[in-house]
Amino acid sequence: FWADVEEAPRDPILGVTEKFLADPNPNKINLGVGAYRDDDGNPVVLDCVREAEKRIMGSKFMEYLPMGGFKEFCDHSLKLAYGETNPLVTGNKIAAVQSLSGTGSCRLMADFMHKFKPGAKVYITVPTWSNHHNIWGDARVEKETFRYYKPETRGLDFDGMMEDIAAAEGGSFFLLHACAHNPTGVDPTADQWREISKLMREKGHFPFFDMAYQGFASGDCVRDAQAIEIFLSDGHMVGCSQSYAKNMGLYGQRIGCFSLTCNNEQEKIAVESQMKRIARATYSNPPLHGALLVSTVLGDPELKALWYKEVKGMADRIISMRTALRNNLESISGDSWQHVTDQIGMFCFSGMTSEHVDALYEKSIYMTSNGRISMAGVTTKNVETLAKAMHEVTSA
Ligand code: LMR
Repeated sequence: FWADVEEAPRDPILGVTEKFLADPNPNKINLGVGAYRDDDGNPVVLDCVREAEKRIMGSKFMEYLPMGGFKEFCDHSLKLAYGETNPLVTGNKIAAVQSLSGTGSCRLMADFMHKFKPGAKVYITVPTWSNHHNIWGDARVEKETFRYYKPETRGLDFDGMMEDIAAAEGGSFFLLHACAHNPTGVDPTADQWREISKLMREKGHFPFFDMAYQGFASGDCVRDAQAIEIFLSDGHMVGCSQSYAKNMGLYGQRIGCFSLTCNNEQEKIAVESQMKRIARATYSNPPLHGALLVSTVLGDPELKALWYKEVKGMADRIISMRTALRNNLESISGDSWQHVTDQIGMFCFSGMTSEHVDALYEKSIYMTSNGRISMAGVTTKNVETLAKAMHEVTSA
């Protein structure tokens, strides 16, 4: 039956973890997958999550959740993404289901598009998180790309982006990164978002926000949702994929929320019922534990305040590692590495080529072949080694 099946190519991100794990060198460094580490290189469980675990322990049975997941969790998530007092939230006009984190939300969106907007195209930034291509491709949605990053300036290609948005067929779907663009760490400014929003409104495009890093860009969860706020105030209908993998450190719990704003409550009921229908056929209903943890944290003012503090702590450690990496690189090389501190969020798009990255593998330093460094894996203990190795391979 399976003789013709060829081996799938290694995943560009998770494949790096496989390489790292296979390396026997005790001093190896993994800067591949975006997963937060403390300054000793260890994974972190947030105190707010530990406290939530204590509170929910033994309190619930192991029953199925409904197809759309835990309602309380979705309500908290919508307030976090769209704002507590937003009339769409208070007026019950947002269709939402609990999802299997960012990938799960994006896949539900892609399936929803395929089913209810057949023939519509999704526009994806160049570059983007590699899994976006898998997700929309596997859901059989036609993909197009639009300019986003300018290698020459290591910044935003704002003019190129605006030209591509203007040239796209009206009513297209645009996959935007709400904050902390993955992999480049380059975000539009608030004013640029305003211009993008205005143009997309004129063209009748639909913005879908992948918000996997709320809190990681600025350390402030409210501020990191500003792009969504800007689009909503322009009267856009929007969609959003939320993930609690990074900002609450719930990677393995696979917990997130998929939402679409609607014109009225009836529309919301219909849209949400179809989201649930897709969920039912795909995985039936989502897992319980992460939803209980998030609801407990977001539902308690003290735990929520602690969470905000802890997200800021993670973001601040990453920012300090950017400075340390830049300083080390500049003092070794004498060249400018300003883009390391200009970029924001979990990743640094270093500008290194796949040849440079291959040479770093020889030194047991692992990152994705596009030169993306997960800054969350950089520590005061490994930053000097990393800078030296980066200088060696880039100056060879
Ligand atoms: C990443 O980009 O490293 C993360 O979003 C993890 C993943 O699943 O790829």
